Amino acid sequence: MARRSKIYEGKAKILYEGPEAGTIIQYFKDDATAFNAEKKEVIEGKGVLNNRLSEFFMSGLNNIGVPTHFIKRINMREQLVRSCEIIPLEIVVRNFAAGSISDRLGIEEGTQLPRPIIEYYYKDDSLGDPIVSEEHIAAFNWASAQDMDDILGLALRVNDFLSGVLFSVGIKLVDFKIEIGRLFEGDFQRLVVADEISPDSCRLWDIKSGTKLDKDVFRRDLGSLTDAYTEVAYRLGLLQKSTSQMKPTLVK
Ligand code: TMP
Ligand code: ASP
Repeated sequence: MARRSKIYEGKAKILYEGPEAGTIIQYFKDDATAFNAEKKEVIEGKGVLNNRLSEFFMSGLNNIGVPTHFIKRINMREQLVRSCEIIPLEIVVRNFAAGSISDRLGIEEGTQLPRPIIEYYYKDDSLGDPIVSEEHIAAFNWASAQDMDDILGLALRVNDFLSGVLFSVGIKLVDFKIEIGRLFEGDFQRLVVADEISPDSCRLWDIKSGTKLDKDVFRRDLGSLTDAYTEVAYRLGLLQKSTSQMKPTLVK
């Protein structure tokens, strides 16, 4: 068997060279980290759930005309994606206050924001991903003014899509983070949603009870992370509820 060549290993995923030029295989690990990897744990089954959930969100975006890097899921832990150059920004969209905006500005968690707020963080683990303004992004040439226009448009479309899909299954999209990649097609460059969209990168609250169904369960030691992610997958119709003690099985 030929050994695949590893391109990059991050905290939650490994990237391997894909079968064709311009493709990459994304492997979802079971590792969970928080606070810039100060807190770490292996959570059995997390990678499988995130692979399936990210497939669901990314293919939904592709279907409504929001371009993403996603091509197809290959197996339980891997998906095929288009190779792109990641813009070194974490783009956070917030509908309700929680997490760092609550700490930074003293806004009670759960407060509805007057409108979706977009924030940019510079992707650099050694600096702890600091928040930056469009001034920094322009001055340091991380993205052009045209890129920033496109990024804002993509982020708001992703927000509307995810908010609607999740609302329909009783989940409030409090906030989320996306990453954007540059796809080169001949002389043209297109920006696409890249990386992953999963409960690792969103805040998801049950609308009725306020129960957290995202990575805050791990960050704040609130219980079983796989139970929370399984609940999200189940509500979205991606899992069958098991009647026995067997583990949940993926629905094709
Ligand atoms: P924050 O409130 O900690 O700034 O997080 C905002 C959103 O971004 C939340 O949905 C979690 C997500 N996020 C990531 O995906 N990766 C990260 O490294 C951090 C800090 C947040
Ligand atoms: N993903 C980040 C880390 O490990 C932080 C987080 O999601 O809270 O460290």
